Amino acid sequence: MIPLIKDILTRNPNGEEITVYGWVRTKRETKNLIFIQVNDGSCIDSIQLTFDRDKGLDAQTEKELSKITTGASVRATGALVKSPASGQAVEIAAHTVFVYGEAPAETFPLQKKRHSFEFLREIAHLRARTNTFGAVARMRSQMAFAVHSFFRERGFQYVHTPLITASDCEGAGEMFHVTTLNMQEVVRKALRDKADPETFTIDYKQDFFEKEANLTVSGQLEAETYATALSRVYTFGPTFRAENSNTTRHLSEFWMIEPEMAFFRLEDNMELAEEFIVYLLKWAITHCYSDLKFFDTHVKPGLIDTVEHVIQTPFTRISYTEAVKLLEKKASVFEFKPYWGCDLQSEHEKYLTDEVFKGPVIVTDYPKEIKAFYMKQNEDGKTVRAMDMLVPALGEIIGGSEREENLAALESRITELGLDIKDYWWYLDLRRYGTVPHSGFGLGFERLLLYITGMTNIRDVIPFPRTPKSAEF
Ligand code: 4AD
Ligand code: MG
Repeated sequence: MIPLIKDILTRNPNGEEITVYGWVRTKRETKNLIFIQVNDGSCIDSIQLTFDRDKGLDAQTEKELSKITTGASVRATGALVKSPASGQAVEIAAHTVFVYGEAPAETFPLQKKRHSFEFLREIAHLRARTNTFGAVARMRSQMAFAVHSFFRERGFQYVHTPLITASDCEGAGEMFHVTTLNMQEVVRKALRDKADPETFTIDYKQDFFEKEANLTVSGQLEAETYATALSRVYTFGPTFRAENSNTTRHLSEFWMIEPEMAFFRLEDNMELAEEFIVYLLKWAITHCYSDLKFFDTHVKPGLIDTVEHVIQTPFTRISYTEAVKLLEKKASVFEFKPYWGCDLQSEHEKYLTDEVFKGPVIVTDYPKEIKAFYMKQNEDGKTVRAMDMLVPALGEIIGGSEREENLAALESRITELGLDIKDYWWYLDLRRYGTVPHSGFGLGFERLLLYITGMTNIRDVIPFPRTPKSAEF
């Protein structure tokens, strides 16, 4: 098989003949020596090819060398030798090179200099060829694997919940419609029929699913159906939210991991969530150290120390009511005045994690008015058994709760919120037949990646970000 540079770099430099494949990062030339850094994305490091004219390069090799600029794709052969240069153990004393594809310097947008992340977002199809985005991509792949590994080790089953759904899990009405109706035709017909604009509604009976359908905002409700059969399940897939919030922490299409556990109470849920985050951070240290080191040096100084500290320190747990008391003491510093009942703003979350507790915080027992219909109500009649995990610089990374398993209580909450009970018939069946206490949470995969890489814009930790006004690639 074609060798990867990450493996070649760990080999013994015993002069064996070796062929490498990849893309040129830099080419440097003195009178007789040509140095070329080649990277294949298998790791952050490139391998150096050294061509020595004193040792005689044939005309074909010289011709190929003349075509090489930053970005060209190449295959090169030579002896794997100990490198005299610092910062690299081995290099290739190359004698032959073949250029698969040139990358003309006049037009190839990725030149040697450091480009801004904003600029690179405009060329999302090429940015994986940079050090930073290569590292992000490897980290993303590793973390996805770690997620599956964590749950597998704990007896969870991976469930594929649908992306097209007729239910609105979070009840927030921020959904993308899925329809095959020709809207142009629908409007034309309404105009032709002189429909009353006040009463006109689209007849979804004519639509593909014969009802209104959307892209899912969460796989939770469906995951609950499997948790009440298999005990422990998780989903991990794309999630869609049409909220028009153009922030550095929101995507319109993001990936979410949602475990759901029968018989778990809120405390068990929090324990699992904390164990999960610590597991993922440890995985990053053990399996992604060189990329982590890159982020530590170039993106967020101190990142590794922070990760190690978080692994060792138990997360703070605090109730919403206690959190609001802390915030009220500092009310004057906030743009949005905190009060009991308010939704925590990111400035509030930041104050708790960055100033007060200097680490992750799990906030529990939020007012029911600001949380979803399915959360289990506390006996005080005011709060629900919710938990949000907040982390420094980022805010919410996990949202979850114990679920309302009592049929009557759940029905009355659905009605109270003006939702149509008929839409939830199958969800309510879970409470009608063999109901059990159960809990779960959702971890935003890209928020996790922001946390682990120290990157600051969520658009930079997903290959092709979907955000308001942006779906080019
Ligand atoms: O708090 P949320 O909305 O919770 C749920 O969807 C529950 N159904 C989860 C569950 O209990 N099974 O979202 C969960 C997490 C958030 O904490 C955040 O990390 C991430 O999903 N998230 C987003 N990530 C990127 N872009 C967005 N627009 C996000 N909205 C939520
Ligand atoms: Mg939330």
